[in-house]
Amino acid sequence: MNDWNLDSWKYRVAKHMPNYENEKDLKTVEQKLASFPPLVFAGEVRSLKNQLKEVSEGNAFLLQGGDCAESFSEFNADNIRDTFRVILQMAVVLTSGMKLPVIKVGRMAGQFAKPRSNPTEIQGSEEAPSYAGDIINDINFDPIKRKPDPHRMLTAYSQAASTLNLLRAFADGGYADLKHVQSWNMGFVQSGKQSDRYRHLAESIQESLTFMEALGINANNTPQLRKVDYFTSHEALLLPYEQSLTRVDSTSGKIYNTSAHFLWIGDRTRFIDSAHVEFCRGVENPIGIKCGPSTDADELNAILDLINPMNEDGKITLITRFGEDNVDNYLPNLIRSITREGKRVIWSCDPMHGNTIKSQSGKKTRAFDSIVNEVKQNFQIHKLEGSRAGGIHLEMTGQDVTECIGGSQSIGDSDLNSRYHTHCDPRLNANQAIELAFLISDWLTE
Ligand code: PEP
Ligand code: CO
Repeated sequence: MNDWNLDSWKYRVAKHMPNYENEKDLKTVEQKLASFPPLVFAGEVRSLKNQLKEVSEGNAFLLQGGDCAESFSEFNADNIRDTFRVILQMAVVLTSGMKLPVIKVGRMAGQFAKPRSNPTEIQGSEEAPSYAGDIINDINFDPIKRKPDPHRMLTAYSQAASTLNLLRAFADGGYADLKHVQSWNMGFVQSGKQSDRYRHLAESIQESLTFMEALGINANNTPQLRKVDYFTSHEALLLPYEQSLTRVDSTSGKIYNTSAHFLWIGDRTRFIDSAHVEFCRGVENPIGIKCGPSTDADELNAILDLINPMNEDGKITLITRFGEDNVDNYLPNLIRSITREGKRVIWSCDPMHGNTIKSQSGKKTRAFDSIVNEVKQNFQIHKLEGSRAGGIHLEMTGQDVTECIGGSQSIGDSDLNSRYHTHCDPRLNANQAIELAFLISDWLTE
């Protein structure tokens, strides 16, 4: 790999990165982080890559989801459990429709840094740096608290470590045992259409388990029934954090980012001379690349040559986010261009970021119907183009929030004020997420 090293990104164009006033503080934090244990292990990353290879061959489906921005203040066990649980439920629903394994990747345990359209925010006569995620500055509008503080990276590391600890316990310690498939239907999704459908599906899974048990297939001899693989991901935006957690793996001698299993490059930092592209090309982890209306297909192909020179299967996931009105204009051409160049990629659909609107009260929201519509068009376009819709990327939570309008709870504009908790973009709540999973499963069954 030509000229790559841990610092080589510093000689490229670094957008959406904070200016830390105190270089010495930054250095101290970086050194501390670099001395801390890895959050994920190279072997786990290799396992995810192998599973993504299956996605790219059409033998599995990728489900990626979680908060737009994790926050320090809403960090607690219930939040982590509820998001984990909804992802399990969605995976069960999708598996039943697709008859394929679902690879589960959370936007969790590190999704703290946000690119912002405006570097500063003005309130009244005061101006302050924009909020850039809890790993960088404070959400409260205050010119002092909004100054980027490198020590926040240490808090983020510690939160990510505790989050991963709990996720591993849930995934491996009995909570994810398929025999609990009915009890996952708790929390607020207990009544209504989604809940009834889910209960019905859970009952039929329960029957199959009883049947299999009679044949001698059970959780003791078939670990897949008892535990799940659950991976973590975030946008690799704050490069001092990512660099400090990047290590040489002692078993393979290769370089892995150990802050998450999967990293992605955002829509605003995806360009040929980008520091973020430079950093990501040096690590073995699978890499996602967001693609929106501003994506130039030739430039994207050149970026793929840099990040995936061996054209490895499962290495690259293109996460397309065009918006329901644009997907038809852009996606077919992008698919043709990537296919023409023979590039091996997984196509995943992010139906969130192209569908953000302002509500009457001025809050950012997204209409459930627009999200559904973009996903549906994605499936249709890939079918027409002979490519494969391999995954979905969602901003969602297990909580009963009111951030996206619509869905079977009929959340309206005036409901947004009641439980609007996101630190950045509006998320699907558990009910909406499960409803979307059922819709996808229905289309594929048809
Ligand atoms: C995000 O995923 O939160 C995000 C900022 O997306 P994009 O880079 O696609 O705008
Ligand atoms: Co977002």
